[in-house]
Amino acid sequence: MNTILLLVLLGLFGFAASGFFILRFRLRVMEEALRKERLDNEQLLRRGAEFVANVSHELKTPLAAIKGYSETLRSAIKRDPDKALEFLQRIDDNAERLALLINDLLELSRIEAPNFHHQVELFKVDPVLQEVREQFAHKLSGRGQTLLVRNEVENLNADKRMFEHAITNLLENAHRYSGASSLIEITGTLKTENGRIWAEFKVQDNGPGISVEDLPHIFERFYRADKSRNRLSGGSGLGLAIVKHIMLSHGGHVKAQSEAKRGASFALYFPL
Ligand SMILES: Nc1ncnc2c1ncn2[C@@H]1O[C@H](COP(=O)(O)OP(=O)(O)OP(=O)(O)O)[C@@H](O)[C@H]1O
Ligand SMILES: [Mg+2]
Repeated sequence: MNTILLLVLLGLFGFAASGFFILRFRLRVMEEALRKERLDNEQLLRRGAEFVANVSHELKTPLAAIKGYSETLRSAIKRDPDKALEFLQRIDDNAERLALLINDLLELSRIEAPNFHHQVELFKVDPVLQEVREQFAHKLSGRGQTLLVRNEVENLNADKRMFEHAITNLLENAHRYSGASSLIEITGTLKTENGRIWAEFKVQDNGPGISVEDLPHIFERFYRADKSRNRLSGGSGLGLAIVKHIMLSHGGHVKAQSEAKRGASFALYFPL
């Protein structure tokens, strides 16, 4: 009888002890999850604050220029009308830059929104590439740059406006950073990778390229490889961040390859 009681007590003790350990283990897991959530929230807040600081800085530069030129314009308008016209042009350039920056910011937040929906349609690729070529013809010939387009992807099921936007951003970069008389190529091909078929669109140039230090960062918002560049002459560093999000929202991706002094190549991959 005593032995049975002892066994029952031992069983109960074992049950209680294992319950206690399971409970402790669960509490540890919960504590760890809470700690991770707190760290994630802190990181999110830090990134948000960084983003606001960057945006403010980018907005301030052209705004300060507009304010400065309009003040100087006031005094130049009577005594030096030619100078006054030049200041007016600078005000116009800065207002344009401000408008572009705001458009890019709006586009980025639109694509990143959780309830964002594409206007997906099946469209012919050649006419879109032809349109892009025509849009850039004047700019490219102004710098003696040559554009070659070779495409074997007939149709694409994607958001046509966004496809055009991504190609345009890459071509704008190739035009802006590859220097005078450079050769720029756009190639569209079908690729098989990991058993899936992708439409690959490459924009390649033979300009100075991007260094190994800068390459991992160029898709970050506001990142510019050339730190010494005049803020007013270049872009704001949002173009490639927009391209990346366009591709992610299509279930695709973008790859950049470059070696300093040997040109840069950007490839967009759309799943078929
Ligand atoms: N084809 C290229 N050749 C050399 N450097 C490039 C090329 N494309 C991009 N870069 C570098 O990557 C940086 C980030 O490019 P991104 O398009 O995001 O910004 P941006 O061109 O400076 O401004 P935005 O596109 O907003 O007008 C550029 O500032 C430039 O330094
Ligand atoms: Mg750009």
